[in-house]
Amino acid sequence: MNYENLKIPNHVGIILDGNGRWAKSRGLNRSAGHKAGYENLKELCVHILDVGVKYLSVYAFSTENFKRSEEEVGYLMNLVAKKFKSDAKFFMKNDVKVVFSGVRENLRKDVLESMDYVTNLTKDNKKGVFNVCINYGGHLELTDMTKKISKLVKEDKIKIEDINEELISKSLYQDLPPIDFLIRTSGEQRVSNFMLWQLSYAEFYFPKVHFPDFNKEEFNKALIEYTKRDRRFGGINYETKSN
Ligand code: IPE
Ligand code: IPE
Ligand code: MG
Repeated sequence: MNYENLKIPNHVGIILDGNGRWAKSRGLNRSAGHKAGYENLKELCVHILDVGVKYLSVYAFSTENFKRSEEEVGYLMNLVAKKFKSDAKFFMKNDVKVVFSGVRENLRKDVLESMDYVTNLTKDNKKGVFNVCINYGGHLELTDMTKKISKLVKEDKIKIEDINEELISKSLYQDLPPIDFLIRTSGEQRVSNFMLWQLSYAEFYFPKVHFPDFNKEEFNKALIEYTKRDRRFGGINYETKSN
């Protein structure tokens, strides 16, 4: 693959969907799908940052996912508490800085400990940022940002006139650039409450493949598609033939 001819997005978002359907189609239980999804994510994350993407945000567990069975939620939380923690070395070796977005409330102590451990260990890594959204909801992020800014106003640290887009971005869970390219695997064409502020001008891509099968080759296909997109940001690209 010659990456020089491709446009490389600065920030990629992935809604990791279809682990359950992947497992079902193989006669396996949902947990097996989540395990396969996790193993794929690890390798894919390094590939995505290796090709020059600087930020990768993934939707791993939404605030709404607590509606699932105790067994399924427990399995997903164990992946974070155990696998993710033991993979800290893997992220160190690959120079990946791991951060998390979401709320700590309702997360188990061992899950929080694992998240803190990986965050601290990888904080100086330079290849790129891997932002993992756990117990995350887009509406909740905007609500929490509003509370954070209101508190600054109330405590006379800023004036209402100081509120601008930059301050809003900085007051979200992580201060990240806008998402350029959003991928949702498994064919569903919806955002499901993922990074609403950051997606404002993102290009969307909905491959049919389930997440555990969304490998490097599939990502490379996605990059070819992204390269073809004509991003305008409300203006007009007068150099494009179709104009
Ligand atoms: C994505 O796969 C993983 C999480 C939401 C945690 P799903 O578990 O949503 O898989 P499907 O959509 O049921 O196939
Ligand atoms: C979105 O997937 C959340 C994550 C991938 C973590 P869901 O499978 O939960 O979304 P819906 O319910 O199909 O919208
Ligand atoms: Mg799903």
